[in-house]
Amino acid sequence: KKRIGVMTSGGDAPGMNAAVRAVVRMTIARGCESYAIYEGYTGLVKGGNFIRKMSWEDVRGWLSEGGTLIGTARCKEFRERPGRLAGAKNLILNGIDALIICGGDGSLTGADIFRREWPNLLEELVKTGELQREQIEPYMHLNIAGLVGSIDNDMTGTDATIGCYSSLTRICQAVDYIDATAYSHSRAFVVEVMGRHCGWLALMAGVSTGADFVFLPEKPPASDWEDDMCAIISKHRGMGKRKTIVIVAEGATDADLNPITASYVKDVLSGKLHLDTRITTLGHVQRGGTACAYDRMLATLQGVEAVDAILEATPETPSPVIVVNENKISRKPLMEAVEQTQAGAACIARKDFEGAMKLRDREFEE
Ligand code: F6P
Repeated sequence: KKRIGVMTSGGDAPGMNAAVRAVVRMTIARGCESYAIYEGYTGLVKGGNFIRKMSWEDVRGWLSEGGTLIGTARCKEFRERPGRLAGAKNLILNGIDALIICGGDGSLTGADIFRREWPNLLEELVKTGELQREQIEPYMHLNIAGLVGSIDNDMTGTDATIGCYSSLTRICQAVDYIDATAYSHSRAFVVEVMGRHCGWLALMAGVSTGADFVFLPEKPPASDWEDDMCAIISKHRGMGKRKTIVIVAEGATDADLNPITASYVKDVLSGKLHLDTRITTLGHVQRGGTACAYDRMLATLQGVEAVDAILEATPETPSPVIVVNENKISRKPLMEAVEQTQAGAACIARKDFEGAMKLRDREFEE
C-alpha cells in the first residue's frame, strides 16, 4: 500500500485543516495509507512521534477549524542539507515516498529541493551506513504536490490561496466595527493589515469596506502622497463623510522604500487635516479563527486533486502545485509558479489596482 504524508508549513492559514482532512480521507479512499507529519519540516527532521498514521476518524470535525491542528513551523534545519538528510531517513523508516505540503512559496520551494535531492540523499544515507541499500530500493523517487496555504494571496498562477478569503472576511468585519465608532466621533482610523510583500489583503479590504486611501507594498505612492491623500480625504469629508478609514499594508513603503507606517499616516492626518485619529493594528486576528465557506471548499477540492496528482505522477512529472483559475481546480508546475512569484509577478494587487482606483473615483464622482 502506498503511503502518502501530509504536512502544513510556514504561517498557518484558515482552511489548512480542511486541506489535511481532504488529503487524509482521499488517500484512504484511494486505498493508500495516510500519514501526518506534525510541526511542519521540524517534524520531518525529528521523525519518531512527529510522523503518525491517520485514520478517517482522526480528522473528524476539522473542516471548519482555524489554524492547523497538525502544527506548523518555520524550520531552519530543513534549509541545510543535514536537516534534509534526517528528513529523508525518517520518511524511508516510515515507508513514505509521497508528500503533500500545504504552505507558502518558501515551504513549497523547500519541498521541491528535497524532491530533486532525494536519490542523492538516499545514496548518502547508505554510504554513511544510516540505511541499508535494501531499505532505500523500493523508494527511489519522491513525489510531492503543493497546496498553497497563505492568508496573503501571494502565489502567482492561482486566483486564490487557501486562507486569503477567511482573512479578508475577518478584516472587513473588523473595519465594519471600527466604522461605527469612527462615524460616532467623526474620527479617522488608520488600520494596519498583514501582507508582507503582497497588498492583496489591503487592496481588497479597501475595496470591500470603501476605505478612503490604501497603501500597498507593490505600488509605492508618488512623493507628494501626503498632499494627495489629504486632498482625497478632504474631498470625501466635504461630501459629508463623517468617518475616514486608511488601510496600510504592513509592508507598505514610499518610492524610496522607506516604510510607510500607520503612526506616520496618523501624524499626517492629525497634523495636516486636524482629524482626531486612532490606529488599529489588526495583527493575528486576521490569521486565526474559523475558515470561511470558500476556503473550506477550496481546500477540500484541492486536497482531493493533490492526492490524484500524487497517484498519477511518474518520476518525470515535474512537481505540481494545485491551483484555482476561473473556478476550476487544476495542476501547474510548482517551480514555475514559485519562480514567477519570486520574480515579482505575485504582485497580484498590481493587476487589480487600476480597477479598484477607478471604482473609488467613480463612487465619489457620482
Ligand atoms: O505570510 C503570512 C503572514 O501572515 C504575513 O502576512 C505576516 O507578515 C507574517 O505571516 C507574520 O508572521 P508570523 O506571525 O508567523 O511571524
